[in-house]
Amino acid sequence: MKTASLWGAPPKRFYHFLRRLTPASPDETLTLAVLGCADGKFVLPAARRGIKVWAADIDEITLFGGYKEDSSGRVHVPGLAARLKTEGLEDLVDIHHGSFVDEPPGRQFDGVFTSGALQYSNNTGHDLADMVDLVGGCVRVGGLLYVDYMLPYEDKYKGRPNCPEAGWWKEYFRSRPEWDVHYNRAMPPTLDRAHLDYPVDHYHQWGHVLAERRLDRG
Ligand SMILES: C[S@@+](CC[C@H](N)C(=O)[O-])C[C@H]1O[C@@H](n2cnc3c(N)ncnc32)[C@H](O)[C@@H]1O
Repeated sequence: MKTASLWGAPPKRFYHFLRRLTPASPDETLTLAVLGCADGKFVLPAARRGIKVWAADIDEITLFGGYKEDSSGRVHVPGLAARLKTEGLEDLVDIHHGSFVDEPPGRQFDGVFTSGALQYSNNTGHDLADMVDLVGGCVRVGGLLYVDYMLPYEDKYKGRPNCPEAGWWKEYFRSRPEWDVHYNRAMPPTLDRAHLDYPVDHYHQWGHVLAERRLDRG
């Protein structure tokens, strides 16, 4: 039985990213890290394709289930672990409850994906360049990094040191020759549908970067 994330369905660009991943050698299974995975919006689609996933989040309820309160009331969250069990995908996913910044996976993957997590308020105490270095360091040479980054459109993100303008992201990758940037796009503000923790339709402004690691270090 197919389950659904309380954060909605992934955008098409995520499936394009998955299709571009290649294993380190032809007989190996693809590996992916999803950093800030919540209840598995991006984890289940990868695992359904046979990809081995390392999935990390600090939010225990989104991983293991429980109840959350938001302005729509009390919401039951089945959680990532239960979704995987329902779909028979537990063996493909290694769930890590903790901060990927403080407890990084300590190994490399064919792909690393993170969406919005770097801009979370719990990460404001960390230097953004250090965090992106760390996340990128989890990509093997020849592997792909995909970062959905939040831009400071809404008041709550303005002035947050880990939520800079689009120019910061251009400069970050310009100054790191280990990356071959396939694209780095700052999008206009877009309407995101209501989801858990934000139960009304709302505007965000996103940027998307897809980069391939061509060297171990620049
Ligand atoms: C924008 S939400 C992602 C939710 C959903 N998967 C999506 O992208 O639409 C970002 C997630 O990152 C998690 N997160 C933020 N900082 C983190 C950290 N340092 N380590 C692990 N998870 C983190 C949050 O708990 C949250 O679940």
